[in-house]
Amino acid sequence: MSKKYLITSALPYANGALHLGHLAGAYLPADIYVRYLRLLGKDVVWVCGSDEHGAAITLRAKKEGISPQEIIDKYHFLNKDTFEKLGISFDYYHRTSAQLHHETAQEFFLKLHEKGGQFEERTSEQYYDEEFNQFLADRYIIGTCPKCGYEEAYGDQCENCGSDLSPTELINPRSTLSGKTPILRQTTHWYFKLDQHEAWLREWIENGKMDGNEHHNPKEWKNHVTGQCLSWLDGGLNARAITRDLDWGIPVPVEGGEGKVLYVWFDAPIGYISSTRQWAKENGKDWEAYWKGDDTQLIHFIGKDNIVFHCIIFPAMLKAYGDYVLPKNVPANQFLNFEGQKFSKSRGWGIEQHEYLESFKDFPNKEDALRYALIRNMPENRDADFKWDEFVDFHDKELADNLGNFVNRVIVLTNKYYEGVVPETTQPLAEGLAEAISIAEKITSEIEHFSFRPAAQALMELSSWGNTYLQEVSPWKLFKAEPDSPVIKECMFNCLQIVGLLSLLSAPFIPFTAPKLRKLLNLDELQNGDLQKALDAIKSGQALVSSGHKIGAPELLFAKVIDRKDDSRLQIINAQKEKLEAVLAGEKKAEREPIKPTIEFDDFTKIDLRTGTITAAEKVPKAKKLLKLTVDLGNEERTVVSGIAEFYKPEDLPGQTVVLVANLAPRKLRGVESQGMILMAENEEGKLTFVGTKEGWGNGFVVR
Ligand code: MF3
Ligand code: ZN
Repeated sequence: MSKKYLITSALPYANGALHLGHLAGAYLPADIYVRYLRLLGKDVVWVCGSDEHGAAITLRAKKEGISPQEIIDKYHFLNKDTFEKLGISFDYYHRTSAQLHHETAQEFFLKLHEKGGQFEERTSEQYYDEEFNQFLADRYIIGTCPKCGYEEAYGDQCENCGSDLSPTELINPRSTLSGKTPILRQTTHWYFKLDQHEAWLREWIENGKMDGNEHHNPKEWKNHVTGQCLSWLDGGLNARAITRDLDWGIPVPVEGGEGKVLYVWFDAPIGYISSTRQWAKENGKDWEAYWKGDDTQLIHFIGKDNIVFHCIIFPAMLKAYGDYVLPKNVPANQFLNFEGQKFSKSRGWGIEQHEYLESFKDFPNKEDALRYALIRNMPENRDADFKWDEFVDFHDKELADNLGNFVNRVIVLTNKYYEGVVPETTQPLAEGLAEAISIAEKITSEIEHFSFRPAAQALMELSSWGNTYLQEVSPWKLFKAEPDSPVIKECMFNCLQIVGLLSLLSAPFIPFTAPKLRKLLNLDELQNGDLQKALDAIKSGQALVSSGHKIGAPELLFAKVIDRKDDSRLQIINAQKEKLEAVLAGEKKAEREPIKPTIEFDDFTKIDLRTGTITAAEKVPKAKKLLKLTVDLGNEERTVVSGIAEFYKPEDLPGQTVVLVANLAPRKLRGVESQGMILMAENEEGKLTFVGTKEGWGNGFVVR
């Protein structure tokens, strides 16, 4: 039986759009890996889909006043479409609201239930909203965090201090449905006895052994993944509730389960199975061969917040069921930040995938430009930071100046010297290209070890090697004296082989560019298995681009951002930076003056505010900011010195209506006695404007 690869990427919640951090975390790395496997001709299926249950979705629906179905439809299709546009090449993108998924998850639950020993029913007290007649999911309860005092903490987590909470820990709990204090009421739920899986899980994670046999090499797992798992195990495993009192989700298919649904984290990973089943159904395949076969490599691509679910809980579920394979590796990524801070939708910090495509619609090769920048800065072992300046550097210095420039020189020179026909050479291929071949092997080995960032660097080494080689030979110097020189022929022949290698090896990373390289070489479009064939061929001395083959015409691959003659791409980048500056500026303003401490009504009434009209205005000598104003208060006149000279000319002021603090103690300013103060509103930039309106105005009215 041939080895099969079953690849999964975390099912994103269908309650929002995905940002670049998601892409770099669980989708782009999987896409590189899968594209690579396909090029090797491996038997691989990559499944994903929308995670459409859970309280996060019903809450969002409530907030927007629409049904959960509308929410999931909107984001399922948006996310699916955006992934496609970025070249994320899932074999199947399913959704957990699908009938087949409901059936698969219910069957899974039932089997564990019937098997006995895995579940236990427990009755406990949980919060209940009497007005809405329903139990409250953790997310539906808000209260004061017992750890930090934050007043808007959720029943499962405080977003201010990051503590994990349980709803009964909240001080002053209130229901997000009715706003009232919920009561405690008894309810029964099914618990998965995770604790009894502890021993084998530890052996499996620590030593890579399963039932005494080698399952995987634990050294190949990332340190941060193993570390998180072990610290979880050290903390001890507890039975976990796998049902909820909710009306959105998969009904609990056993007696007593009425009105309850499976917990979203129970059904979602089973989504990998149902997605595979749906794919198999539509493609005439056998899904069980992938999930239950002896020789399957199951790999989960996820972000670090999902590690315990994929390395502990889901494996325990699979083992409890029996027959299923367990993951060979879970190459979780850490987090990507954005310009030094966390992505935050509410703050407007970051950029969503579909926003990127929209804002960069006129940026040539925008998909690969983004993919490449994310790969080169992928948070593989530690958190990383996405910066627009680095995006530009990766694009201009690596894609354009290195890869693009090398390819372009080779195509241009071949056309110029040989009318595009690959020259003959007598040198054995492997000799001139030994080093290039070893760089190619480095690329493949890095990919196989889930080190995509070093893999992309190695890809650049390959074209860099080509550039150096071309420069060393400098055929343009020789050509004038000896156009037929075998030295030039050999050099151009070798360089064309490197472009041939690049057209294959670049495909997992920049799949929109690789076909252009094929076209420049006038080679067939890439097929599954082509990379394996090419590597075999080149090692046995066969050319990838044969002598006598006619290549295509040159064409620019990457238009640099920094370009003195055309700043259109720089403008696109600058617009992004300006957006972020505006976010920061807005926040600074909001921060500038917090609301002052509460005062009593009596405090307020001490201030006597009166309406008035300016009748005369003049500059105060030697004071840049001050004007001396005369204000008519109806039955008296006041002289007021006001710091508004920067904003108003004295001649424009007579007739201006104002509100005056009439009982402020008089004060001398530059020798003039000021008998009150005019109320002014100050905007973000410090500009002052008068408070008041002309309508119904009369001098001397009391303002309260
Ligand atoms: N929706 C979850 C998240 O975004 C991931 C679910 S992964 C699965 O964090 F395995 F449960 F599908
Ligand atoms: Zn807190």
